[in-house]
Amino acid sequence: MLVKYNAINNNGLSWMGSPRAIAFDAKGMQQKLTAVDKPCFVVQDFNGRIGFTNEGDLSTKNKGLKVLAVAHPLTANQLGDASFCEDYKLKYAYKTGAMANGIASEELVIAMAKANLLGSFGAAGLVPARVLQAINRIQGAIPTKSYAFNLIHSPNEEALEEGAVRLFLENKVRVVEASAYLKLTPHIVHYRVAGLTRDIEGNVVVNNKVIAKISRTEVAAHFMKAPPKAMLDQLLKEGKITSLQAELANQVPMADDITVEADSGGHTDNRPLVALLPSIIRLRNEMEKKYNYAIKIRVGAAGGIATPESALGAFMMGAAYVVTGSVNQACVEAGTSEHVKNLLAQVSSTDVMMAPASDMFEMGVELQVLKRGTLFGPRAKKLYEYYNRYQSIDDIPTKEREKLEKQVFKQPLEKVWEACIQFFQERDPKQIERAENNEHRKMALIFRWYLGLSSNWANAGTTDRKTDYQIWCGPAMGAFNDWTKNTPLAKPENRYAADVAEQIMEGAAYLYRIQSLKMQGLTMPAEWESYAPKTSEKMAMMMG
Ligand SMILES: Cc1cc2nc3c(=O)[nH]c(=O)nc-3n(C[C@H](O)[C@H](O)[C@H](O)COP(=O)(O)O)c2cc1C
Repeated sequence: MLVKYNAINNNGLSWMGSPRAIAFDAKGMQQKLTAVDKPCFVVQDFNGRIGFTNEGDLSTKNKGLKVLAVAHPLTANQLGDASFCEDYKLKYAYKTGAMANGIASEELVIAMAKANLLGSFGAAGLVPARVLQAINRIQGAIPTKSYAFNLIHSPNEEALEEGAVRLFLENKVRVVEASAYLKLTPHIVHYRVAGLTRDIEGNVVVNNKVIAKISRTEVAAHFMKAPPKAMLDQLLKEGKITSLQAELANQVPMADDITVEADSGGHTDNRPLVALLPSIIRLRNEMEKKYNYAIKIRVGAAGGIATPESALGAFMMGAAYVVTGSVNQACVEAGTSEHVKNLLAQVSSTDVMMAPASDMFEMGVELQVLKRGTLFGPRAKKLYEYYNRYQSIDDIPTKEREKLEKQVFKQPLEKVWEACIQFFQERDPKQIERAENNEHRKMALIFRWYLGLSSNWANAGTTDRKTDYQIWCGPAMGAFNDWTKNTPLAKPENRYAADVAEQIMEGAAYLYRIQSLKMQGLTMPAEWESYAPKTSEKMAMMMG
């Protein structure tokens, strides 16, 4: 028998309908299972055979065939919070996260939007002129669809955060994915509050939406309430917001959505989603009770999601939406090199490590990178060790310094310093001023030259720097590779971000059905219990 049933049947249900609508053979049963838009009734006929059907009627009157299990219709677009899809005009409660330096490229955001999905442009690390270019391109390509831009907290380069907010406001970028915040800054508050208006009925209208990505409860709390009065007063004094906006700011939380970021690629606290998500949802519920805002804050999940199983797990824990990251870097639209995409296609979940982050190097902040196929991780860790051990580049023992110059920097450190001066002249000249009389700071900037450029080398595919590629990546990438092994999606050239989203979400809806039936006592063949990626139209076209 293909399917076994081993539970005490206490549902009291029976089934009536045409016997021809019941499938008892493997192919037919699988067809009934995959029709997730219809109910799936598991019935037992008078010969004791177990079959599946999508049709007929249920009764409690003990007439007809015995019903062993029931799975209600549930399609991918029902997963998560319907209001997320409604507010952002989306097909699924699914979003791709920002990836710095334009790795989450215009192409990626546009492709997602065209499929009625939400993508976030990777604005972090880019100069304002480049971000403006992306705004123009995206707004031109998808004038009526939703998209987001990353607003990243930059404690070391405040001018960038401030400049980004100015750009977003001037160009009416209506959704930002705010990330790396430890607390609120006047800049993010400026963005949010400058978009507040009141409708004729007196309700607050939030024009500038904030999806805040957090990995700590205390940071989440800042985004779940109104901004501090002192900050609003200051913005008012500077003429950045009106007094009406300052007043309205007290009636709405800082964020519409909170993305809980668990163990992910890039910046991460490496927390497991199963531990973090329930805590943040609980906090949201408490804050909601305390402040009773008209806006209900949604909590979404990121970190480790790249398969139908992980997406379903997040939804079942109460995630309003899911966010993917690592897997999108391996997609055709990602703004990185073919070499990186090929490397990513080989990794398993354990091929990642934590390494110092360029943007918060001095604070000892780390991010998750690829370990396999590059020496960036160990080299960056070594630089941080030097930074902690020595106060100046001149304190580094000659032998070690020579080794560094030869292997890592491939030039004398003083030359690197000259490059730093040139670089910051355009981005944030204050950085250089602050380092001029501070040898330790100068050392940090020199080391950050390597940390910063190593991701550019990876994105550009700089051939003589292959061993220095910094590739942000989390264990999700390995999970995706495991899932897509021996399928067309195993090949980087077949990975399209919107298609990946579709496969994950369709798979999650299918697995919801499977898990539901299993919990009612059904045992099915192992191959029915997983969801293999389907060959989408786009993929079929690509494969000829
Ligand atoms: C290559 C890469 C770059 C990233 N850069 C950023 C970034 O600039 N800003 C940001 O908010 N998140 C960034 N992230 C995090 C993603 O937006 C997303 O939240 C995360 O990758 C989800 O976890 P996952 O990698 O396990 O899928 C980055 C992730 C990757 C893989």
